[in-house]
Amino acid sequence: MVLGATHRSDIEEVVNEVVQQYGSSRDELIPILNEINRKVGFLPNGVLEMVSKQLKLPQSKVLSVATFYQMLSTKPRGRHVIQFCESAPCHVAGGRQVWERLQEELNIKAGETTEDGKWSLITVSCLGVCGVGPVVVIDEDLYGNVTPDQLPEILSHYS
Ligand code: FES
Repeated sequence: MVLGATHRSDIEEVVNEVVQQYGSSRDELIPILNEINRKVGFLPNGVLEMVSKQLKLPQSKVLSVATFYQMLSTKPRGRHVIQFCESAPCHVAGGRQVWERLQEELNIKAGETTEDGKWSLITVSCLGVCGVGPVVVIDEDLYGNVTPDQLPEILSHYS
């Protein structure tokens, strides 16, 4: 999370900056939401409305995109977001065991955030690096060929 911004003026600034960067074409809706999500940590109240005005799109359309993609969140997330690839090649390479252990270690399920606000866990589709599956991405760090036993050590790198 870059900003932790919750004030409307901070958020407005981020939205303006990102829309300026990508342009206000409707085709840019997903990259724009993705970038705002990355900068703020989630898509807080008001963002969907601001984006819908700037892109001249119905708010319902913006909301449906914001709630469809796993990478986007309309609720606050933990300090660290763990993406677990749940597509078949990673699954076959041992992903199921890694997934079970991950949930056990964090004591949460997909889409949840730990009570201390440290971790959020989401599942994603193929990340395009199937050759090194099972794959786990924590924030911007990608871990390949992950085994269940490596998880405690990997998680310990994050505070
Ligand atoms: S299936 Fe996991 S990275 Fe492709």
